[in-house]
Amino acid sequence: MKILITGALGQIGSELTTSLKKIYGEQNIISSDIRTENITPEFLPYEHLNILDKIKLAEIVKKYKITTIYHLASILSAVGEKNPQLCWNINMTGLHNILEVARELGVKQIICPSSIAVFGPETPKINTKQQTIILPKTMYGITKAAGELICDYYVAKFGIDVRGIRYPGLISHKTLPGGGTTDYAVEIFYEALKNKSYKCFLKSDTILPMMYMPDAIRGTIQLAETDFARLKNHSNFNFSGISFSCSELANEIKKHIPDFEISYVPDFRQEIADSWPSSIDDSPAQEQWGWKAEYDLERMTEDMITNLRNKISND
Ligand SMILES: NC(=O)c1ccc[n+]([C@@H]2O[C@H](COP(=O)([O-])OP(=O)(O)OC[C@H]3O[C@@H](n4cnc5c(N)ncnc54)[C@H](O)[C@@H]3O)[C@@H](O)[C@H]2O)c1
Repeated sequence: MKILITGALGQIGSELTTSLKKIYGEQNIISSDIRTENITPEFLPYEHLNILDKIKLAEIVKKYKITTIYHLASILSAVGEKNPQLCWNINMTGLHNILEVARELGVKQIICPSSIAVFGPETPKINTKQQTIILPKTMYGITKAAGELICDYYVAKFGIDVRGIRYPGLISHKTLPGGGTTDYAVEIFYEALKNKSYKCFLKSDTILPMMYMPDAIRGTIQLAETDFARLKNHSNFNFSGISFSCSELANEIKKHIPDFEISYVPDFRQEIADSWPSSIDDSPAQEQWGWKAEYDLERMTEDMITNLRNKISND
């Protein structure tokens, strides 16, 4: 097992790298990213890779005899709406490069994240099913919906084992999120601990599906390790954790920091949030690979605050 991670320095990659190393061995996990700064020892062996450079990608796959790729390099929703051309290019050309190199060089397995951004305003909002109306209105959502289709095409046409999860907004304390619409749910913790106040860019009653990172990492590896024959779906698994509104999260934080204050000044991200579901039905993931989230709002908030307090006091 030799695993390449693209976008390894990001919010998911920085935690997935450590978890995969524990399971498969330090030297069997090769991290890569377009970034050249802050490459700490936990990311070694490390390769500088722009996912648009297919020749370099193929060289790395050959050099390390890569068998599995976790393809995390991507432009997220809010950054993508500011630069839709870049979003299309990185998310689509980057993914196509991964799939083609896998086909040409015999990489056995690709894990490629999708997102709740595949859904749009016409999609039923409550307990949204996996198979439903997929009419995204953001460029990010369009690339994720098209990404699911091309991944499934490579499964059917070329027999490559490609799998993917529709992540909800992910909450974590190790690495800051990379410019998504659910980033408020991470920023709020930093601001509550440092300044006891937060100006939220979404309305107080905006409910979005979220998940705590330890659940997301565990679920991702669980899907990757499931016997291929058990899977009826491949690249489009709904994946449910916790749904809460901005004010419900603020109230939970207030239980730990009673003088915390929040104000609401919605910006362009409100429209993106309004086009997404508020809760997710993930029964195919439960049935096909035994998925079950462990963290609820209370447990996640307590764990975030404990870990961020330590992090801030060590800075
Ligand atoms: N974090 C979330 O809440 C969330 C939710 C839904 C889906 N996802 C998906 O999960 C995947 C990983 O997301 P993340 O949150 O870790 O993102 P992130 O923005 O934190 O990290 C992405 C990484 O990709 C790198 N990158 C950007 N352009 C690149 C390029 N041209 N070549 C190589 N690397 C490049 C960035 O430097 C960054 O380290 C993405 O596909 C994203 O769409 C994330």
